[in-house]
Amino acid sequence: MDNRILVTGGAGYIGSHTCVELLNAGYDIAVYDNFINSDPEACARVMQLCDKAFPVIEGDVRDTAHLTATLKAHNCKTVVHFAGLKAVGESSEDPVKYYDNNVAGSLSLLKAMQAAEATNIVFSSSATVYGEPEFLPYTEDHPLRATNPYGQTKLMIENILRDTHSANPQFRIAILRYFNPCGAHQSGRIGEAPKGVPNNLMPYIAQVATGQRDALNIWGNDYPTPDGTGIRDYIHVVDLAKGHVSAIAYILEHEGCLEVNLGSGRGASVLEVLKAFSKAVGRDLPSRIKARRPGDVAAYYANADKARALLNWQASRSLDEICADHWRWQSNNPNGYEGT
Ligand code: NAD
Ligand code: WQD
Repeated sequence: MDNRILVTGGAGYIGSHTCVELLNAGYDIAVYDNFINSDPEACARVMQLCDKAFPVIEGDVRDTAHLTATLKAHNCKTVVHFAGLKAVGESSEDPVKYYDNNVAGSLSLLKAMQAAEATNIVFSSSATVYGEPEFLPYTEDHPLRATNPYGQTKLMIENILRDTHSANPQFRIAILRYFNPCGAHQSGRIGEAPKGVPNNLMPYIAQVATGQRDALNIWGNDYPTPDGTGIRDYIHVVDLAKGHVSAIAYILEHEGCLEVNLGSGRGASVLEVLKAFSKAVGRDLPSRIKARRPGDVAAYYANADKARALLNWQASRSLDEICADHWRWQSNNPNGYEGT
């Protein structure tokens, strides 16, 4: 019988890159995804890149019976849980959709895991759970305070996982707080394929570079930062994916409920990102200054010491590599996986 890692949301941006790294590390996997924000083609490309096939199950994590049957059928004792909705603005417009998909979906997963006696879980949390910075860089013991419904869902799921571990110490849990994932696999075969107008900085710049958008809107240049634009911690998605492999190795060896930042530990401003991306493309990309975006903070970035100490993991790819890899993906696949 198989003994696979179930990857919920494995057809998505971070999930597909993590599947590559899990396969490269020798794990067997199965993907469980409803493709609400992804394309099965991503899984096909992961199989090509790794020269290895794996089951891809179409399903919704809120379908507890189907999920339980899937875990049992593949004898999965470990789950990497990416499945969720992630658009901050949309979460304020339709909070019920977000609480239902993200929180009810995670509860359903935990019920299925209990039924199938699967007790290892790695969860995609976010630096958004730290809210307005009280100090920087954020360490894992920074107070937790979400400021929008999306962030609330991440904080609620973290609390559910902490309580689950307290009541059932056999559950081994890694809560990974991602900073700003970007870039793509260096093959240019998999990457981020946003549906509609991108909200996030790097996919937006990438579409300016292809001519799909006329100019980058810089949301504010009057922040108290050296060049006035917002500062974030951009982390290459392949570094992030490798962090999941390290987290699985850790929880297989250690009991407990781990909370850890996955960031590079370095901040970059919007103007620095635009300059680095322009360098990757080989020409200056157009931009215009606009008013601040509601809800944005001036700056945040990670203290990544805990991941280095416990997981023996650190981000190694530079902002220039992030931009070069992102551009290779975008220029080879201007419409994402559409039409392939
Ligand atoms: P993504 O949208 O590319 O991937 C999410 C995947 O989950 C998609 O394939 C989608 O189809 C699937 N999915 C959504 N709801 C589902 C459901 N109910 N049942 C089954 N599948 C479902 O997003 P991503 O950027 O790869 O993010 C993955 C995870 O990481 C998410 O939980 C997200 O909140 C979290 N995260 C992302 C970022 C980021 O900036 N990308 C930062 C921090 C945390
Ligand atoms: C980065 C910087 C913008 C777009 C979001 C979520 C967070 C996490 C990561 C999931 C900011 C500026 C952006 C544009 C711009 N996701 N910007 N023009 O807001 O740090 O984080 O994604 O968990 O929860 O909130 O990322 O890429 O949207 O913005 O000037 O068109 O780029 O103001 O300073 P953010 P982002």
